[in-house]
Amino acid sequence: MDVQQIETARSVEGRSVLITGAASGIGSATARVFASLGARVVLTDRDEAGLRTVAAEIGAERGAAEAFPLDISDPQAIRAVVARAGTANGGIDILVNNAGISAMAPIDSDEYDAHWDRHLAILLTAQQQVIRAALPFLRQSNAARIVNIASTEALGATSGLSAYAAAKAGVVGLTRALAVELGKEAITVNCICPGPIETGMTAAISSDQKATYAARRTALRRYGRPEEIAHMIASIALPGASFLTGAIIPVDGGLTARNG
Ligand code: NAI
Repeated sequence: MDVQQIETARSVEGRSVLITGAASGIGSATARVFASLGARVVLTDRDEAGLRTVAAEIGAERGAAEAFPLDISDPQAIRAVVARAGTANGGIDILVNNAGISAMAPIDSDEYDAHWDRHLAILLTAQQQVIRAALPFLRQSNAARIVNIASTEALGATSGLSAYAAAKAGVVGLTRALAVELGKEAITVNCICPGPIETGMTAAISSDQKATYAARRTALRRYGRPEEIAHMIASIALPGASFLTGAIIPVDGGLTARNG
């Protein structure tokens, strides 16, 4: 692409954004942030009731938000829903691959194989399937952005979370490889590695445990809020973020920076 033709606006206004896992936590915060910046947002999630609530809240503030139920463990549904959503929303400029699950299972537990398959399917396989379904739309955009959500568990690890950590490390590899492959089409692919964030995923951890962990492990001595990840996602999805690709960005309150 001719460098002179690169779109470098510092605004996502009017851009079409597709977000997976948008009924809760980081995904719903991301939908709200993009909507508040004037983007056209499509929310997807397997949790239909949660999806409706978030879409109605955004709609009440901003006019409209499209919502499509989608279970990303179903590849056929991914193809159908992404095609419908892209068409309904006037394309896809920005894809946020966010939906996820997290559970612990020791390597020698009876259920480990099923646990592994489920984590790899939802956290990793689905990301490439959503990207493939979105590609025809992204190729029509003059500032196509793919943002994959991994985790600091892709960079370090917690005992009992091996399937989650392996899948998230896979997201890092997928991000780098697709950044290289799609770079010639000016489609950027980046990855955010959130640290500990207050969401549905961490809701079962007590406040005391969270405070102790954050004080010991993060530089900022606290858990993050989902909005703090959402703002970073929106930043790297700007048209002006045109030379950032293949980046693996910890947004972790300094967790990976801290040794002592
Ligand atoms: P959350 O539990 O609040 O939200 C996850 C959303 O994904 C939910 O709305 C859920 O319904 C949806 N989801 C799960 N499986 C799905 C499926 N098969 N199909 C469609 N939707 C599905 O959790 P959170 O924290 O907002 O998670 C978002 C992403 O952030 C995940 O990829 C997670 O691994 C990642 N992350 C979260 C961290 C945290 O501390 N909360 C830390 C690092 C990464």
